[in-house]
Amino acid sequence: MFPPRPTALAWEILRPLIRAGDRVVDATAGNGYDTVFLAECVGPDGKVIAFDIQELALVSARARVDEVGLLDRVNFIHGSHVGMASHVERGSVAVIMFNLGYLPGNDHAVTTEVADTLEALEVAFELIRPGGALSVVCYPGHPAGALEAEAVEALFQGKTASGWRVAKYGALGTRRPAPFLLIAGK
Ligand SMILES: C[S@@+](CC[C@H](N)C(=O)[O-])C[C@H]1O[C@@H](n2cnc3c(N)ncnc32)[C@H](O)[C@@H]1O
Repeated sequence: MFPPRPTALAWEILRPLIRAGDRVVDATAGNGYDTVFLAECVGPDGKVIAFDIQELALVSARARVDEVGLLDRVNFIHGSHVGMASHVERGSVAVIMFNLGYLPGNDHAVTTEVADTLEALEVAFELIRPGGALSVVCYPGHPAGALEAEAVEALFQGKTASGWRVAKYGALGTRRPAPFLLIAGK
């Protein structure tokens, strides 16, 4: 697909940064596509910590990881990514992925909320190890998503002052503002 979807692009950018045995975080497990990607990258000695506030999402993500036989590489946490610092040590995480918005095919009212997203991202920046990266897929195509995307982009922009290298990728010229990917690495 051209241009590549932000979700697919995130995998291409993050894959070379993850080493066998690494600890990584899926901050929004949803249907588990990113969880499976991360579980494949970390190898048998690595660990994925995967968060979601919806039991329904965790059931779906767990089934997808089970299909590929990698359940032993994933700790599923039924709770908000705001609490992720209780599950991993500061400066120890290779990659943290956020995919904002709602669970596709389900209740659109249960969605990431800008205040929690910003709080969790501030924590996430503290958890990444040197050489690691943080990714966020933002959805500015509807009003609440646009506000969230704008706030997240401003947060990433601000991190450049403390040595983070930041990039933004997304399609131009679409009917509605297209989803975009933010990546930060240090
Ligand atoms: C777009 S979906 C994620 C898609 C997923 N990455 C995948 O590959 O299938 C967003 C998910 O974030 C979850 N979510 C919303 N707020 C959350 C929070 N505070 N902490 C953790 N998960 C949250 C929703 O329940 C939803 O399942």
